[in-house]
Amino acid sequence: MRIGDVFVSQRTLALITLMALSALAANASAGAQSRMFSAGDAYERFMGKWSRELAPLLVEFAGVRDGDAVLDVGSGTGALTAAVVVAAPSSRVIGIDFAASYVAFARARHLGDLVRFEVGDAQQLRYGDGSFNRTLSLLVLNFIPDRAKAVDEMIRVTRPGGTVAAAVWDYGRGMQMLRVFWDEAILLNPAMDARDERHMPLCRKGELALVWREHGLHDVSEEMLTIQTRFVSFDDYWSPFLEKQGPAGTHVGALSDSEREELRRRLRKRLLGDGPDHPIVIAARAWAVRGIVRRRGTSVR
Ligand SMILES: C[S@@+](CC[C@H](N)C(=O)[O-])C[C@H]1O[C@@H](n2cnc3c(N)ncnc32)[C@H](O)[C@@H]1O
Repeated sequence: MRIGDVFVSQRTLALITLMALSALAANASAGAQSRMFSAGDAYERFMGKWSRELAPLLVEFAGVRDGDAVLDVGSGTGALTAAVVVAAPSSRVIGIDFAASYVAFARARHLGDLVRFEVGDAQQLRYGDGSFNRTLSLLVLNFIPDRAKAVDEMIRVTRPGGTVAAAVWDYGRGMQMLRVFWDEAILLNPAMDARDERHMPLCRKGELALVWREHGLHDVSEEMLTIQTRFVSFDDYWSPFLEKQGPAGTHVGALSDSEREELRRRLRKRLLGDGPDHPIVIAARAWAVRGIVRRRGTSVR
């Protein structure tokens, strides 16, 4: 067969087709991720601002010290890296994320010469064994298709005696701005239950700690981290959902005008009752875990 100026045998053509199909399959979930996490400024207004409040708590929980070499896995728009820079200014920090637009957003913030943001996949880190002494991940592991691979990679690039730590929102009850949203979205259309982020993996008490132990980390501890999400008005709560970021924004983006208006009306009633607009303060909780990478020759407990 002739393609352009190149002759290709049937066998080669079948092979090329097979390779293209498997690349498409592998990219299917990557495609979903990139649609969900696509615009840095919109993500910042929706969830990134809350990551910035949560990040210092994870940095402290992970025991980051000045001078550490730190990897921020799934760095997004840079909230966790920025918190490391504040707490430990002479640390070298690399942030990696799948979403090129988020990486560009994070780079534009110019966090200093010791900081670098790169496009990368948590499931296949390009760093050598033991390159970092703290490897952290904020609100990412639940989105990764092969979480076990990602945790293996986080451990591999951390030197023995170093710390691997992560946090995931408690989507079931603790992350209230999303809880309220999904409760009303499902009351409006029960078929949407499958999209509720409460079904996310690793968001319940004990789940992260179990994974850390199963991967052979020691001195594992888990803790709940809490921030307050503050909105100056109902519109301050609602409008970021219109920006199509993350699962909730993606859900709103798929609604018809009338469904969206009905959801907005229900949420306003849920948060403000029938009264006038006023500031809204609700808690957001995340589960955080940390563990130490074993030195070679140490047995798994
Ligand atoms: C909820 S955001 C959290 C971002 C940031 N850590 C924060 O707290 O604001 C999830 C992030 O995980 C990234 N992500 C998802 N899968 C990934 C993968 N396989 N490798 C690297 N990043 C990934 C997304 O692009 C997105 O930036």
